[in-house]
Amino acid sequence: MMETHNCWWKERVFYEIYPRSFQDSNGDGIGDLRGIISRLDYLQWLGVGAVWLCPIYDSPNADMGYDIRNYESVMAEFGTMEDFDELVTQLHRRDIKLVMDLVVNHTSDEHPWFLEARTAKDNPYRDYYIWRDGKDGREPNNWASFFTPSAWSYDETTAQWYLHLFSGKQPDLNWENPEPRQEIYGMMNRWLDRGVDGFRMDVISLLAKHPQLPDGTGSGYVFSPEYFAFQPRLHDYLREMRRACFDGRDCMCVGETSFVTTQNAGSVVDDGRELDMLFQFDVMDMDSGETKWDARPFDLMRFKQIISAWQAAIGWNTLFWGNHDQPRLVSRFGCTRTETLRRRSATCLATAMYLLRGTPFLYQGEEIGMTNCPFPDISELRDVESLNLLRQAAESGRMDWAWRGVRSKGRDNAHTPMQWDAPPNGGFTGGAPWIMVNPNVQEINVAAALRDPDSVLHYYRALLALRREQDVLRYGDFSLLLHEHPQVFAYARTFEGQQIRIYCNFTDRDAPLPEAFCKEKVLLTNVNYEKTDVLLPYEAAVVMA
Ligand code: GLC
Ligand code: CA
Repeated sequence: MMETHNCWWKERVFYEIYPRSFQDSNGDGIGDLRGIISRLDYLQWLGVGAVWLCPIYDSPNADMGYDIRNYESVMAEFGTMEDFDELVTQLHRRDIKLVMDLVVNHTSDEHPWFLEARTAKDNPYRDYYIWRDGKDGREPNNWASFFTPSAWSYDETTAQWYLHLFSGKQPDLNWENPEPRQEIYGMMNRWLDRGVDGFRMDVISLLAKHPQLPDGTGSGYVFSPEYFAFQPRLHDYLREMRRACFDGRDCMCVGETSFVTTQNAGSVVDDGRELDMLFQFDVMDMDSGETKWDARPFDLMRFKQIISAWQAAIGWNTLFWGNHDQPRLVSRFGCTRTETLRRRSATCLATAMYLLRGTPFLYQGEEIGMTNCPFPDISELRDVESLNLLRQAAESGRMDWAWRGVRSKGRDNAHTPMQWDAPPNGGFTGGAPWIMVNPNVQEINVAAALRDPDSVLHYYRALLALRREQDVLRYGDFSLLLHEHPQVFAYARTFEGQQIRIYCNFTDRDAPLPEAFCKEKVLLTNVNYEKTDVLLPYEAAVVMA
């Protein structure tokens, strides 16, 4: 285990920036690279060691940058390549690494490759994408997409269909074809040569599709990950990518491995030949019913099982409570009924997750306890997933269900502007923001949190500092404590004869402990103690054993 000590991506905490909503610098209402640069001192102060930057490439923004039109230029709204180089320099000057989000499962339908591909069946770029004849005037198979009912769109020019697992403006690349693969590796190497420290690879587990593209079982359009996620060829592509781009460089590659399980995770991260880290979604799926829009209550016992299983399954985990695709943590798994509970639950959840074994990934605004946004009306929404859902729901008369789903789970909750300061626009922009600012900006913002020693922000900073100071919190083994306790998530981290115990009350009621912990040995807590044999609502305590 010792040799892992100098591996930077295990030692640092990552902070995800959604550039469009982080900081605007020129008053057009859209966050940009210059805006990010102006906030780097804040990240350094917080204790962030690496930034995951959501896509900043040229894009028509059908899916807010996850539809790339040109992999090697910067989206005009975000700035220029000079701004980008400046961002890299300024980050590195503060000893913060930069990891780029990269989407290579698909491109934009406005990418020159696709524009070429769709012109003729014998165009040299045709096989960069996945084209098929229809069956009886319908789609080649019954696959559903993530964002639209069908995963296929018909193209009149050549009378064939193309596959898109996401929106029709995001055609899937054909990874069986070595040519786009080589183009992609070349492009990745040029970004690495430019100074970036690695990649977060979007939906990387979907690159390989079942060669026969079989129908999924069921009626209507069927969501069929068994034929497009974790296919055997995926491992060949990931190994090839590693050899072509990462070998011999001190960089890091983390994959968004949708549909990964504790059984197959080791095959991509543990032998060091594919990815360095992966994102699994078992915690994010915990409150989903039949679909993500059907809410199910948080189940602490299940959470304990999921965390224990993942801590045991692979050598190193990613630790996260959200990202740009997820609703806000404190609204989702915490409690916003009172201001005290908002603060306590935000800090309790952070303590529970970020002292586990693995690398923490915070999402912007989480560190001040930002909440979901009470969108008053559809016209305030911007996200393609939510808008498509609402359109389909309007057709099938399920508007109430869809609206409830979008308010609680919609991705726009994570996209409202970062709350830096007081109203009207929370210091995000001097102009009109591209998406509404959360009305609670008056109470919840960075400036106010900095002035308040009991804020969520100061607690996050102390938590990250503690993790940096204690080897045991980074490299220690994990073991679950109080397995059967219905309110408390507790665990121990043990390393070289030292042990630290973490106790978190996941409920809004007092939780009795079987034995008191020693007040003098508490390293971090979010309450003022009266008793140490009872945890207050959402209390968190980090205790030296
Ligand atoms: C990933 C991204 C998400 C995007 C999708 C398609 O899940 O995180 O934002 O919409 O891939 O690229
Ligand atoms: Ca701007």
